[in-house]
Amino acid sequence: MQLFLDTADLEEIHTGVEQWGVVSGVTTNPTLIAKAGQDHETQVKRICEIVGNVSAECVSEKKDDLIPEGRRIASWHENVIVKVPMTWDGLAAAKVLAGEGVRINVTLCFTVNQALLAATVGAYIVSPFVGRLDDINQDGIRLIRDIVAAYREQGVTTKVLSASLRNPIHVQDSALAGADIATMPFKVMESLVTHPLTDQGVSRFLADYERARAAGRPAAAGADAGAKPDLRSDHRKTQEPKAVEAPQGQAAAKA
Ligand code: G3P
Repeated sequence: MQLFLDTADLEEIHTGVEQWGVVSGVTTNPTLIAKAGQDHETQVKRICEIVGNVSAECVSEKKDDLIPEGRRIASWHENVIVKVPMTWDGLAAAKVLAGEGVRINVTLCFTVNQALLAATVGAYIVSPFVGRLDDINQDGIRLIRDIVAAYREQGVTTKVLSASLRNPIHVQDSALAGADIATMPFKVMESLVTHPLTDQGVSRFLADYERARAAGRPAAAGADAGAKPDLRSDHRKTQEPKAVEAPQGQAAAKA
């Protein structure tokens, strides 16, 4: 499962992509762009310079407006994935745009049938909203599991992007349910590495190392005598970035 950040904040994206090395995409929406305080085009282009797979949302409602808007957004950068809403107009526009080779993310998905429609028009990604279903006493993760099962059954290649994730349990459950991608706020991603026993273990290893050194015993095998080993297990330790998955062809539902 790929990890995306649900943000338009450049500092958060830099941290996730370059410092942590675990982020391979970003999802934005008009609310997040407004928070970033820049115009849509400028902010999306900046994000695209940092990471591939950047979902940028259309704000038009009618098919005839969505199509030129989608074309315009897609022209900003090759990393852009155009987000359209799960409406008949959105789906009709998605079909035209996908036919032109634009990668489409159909957003605001809340049922398996909606996900099947997104696949039928050739969406690259469908975005079911887990947290918003939980909010109204429905099972968001169950929806992810059901869409994944239906897509497998039908041989659909549209990616299932688990969205509206509010906590780390949503992330692990999305993986267990078979989601291809999970997008989450920065704070949720930051919490993924945390465990009190990890912190305790790092502190204990460092303390034992210092004690041994102070007592004049040789440093641990492989460690530079006198040098402190880098035992940090969290984001403070730079990791090699994982390869970003290359864009795939447009999805298609089984006829
Ligand atoms: O990825 C969708 C997200 O932006 C919506 O999240 O928490 O407002 O339901 P939320």
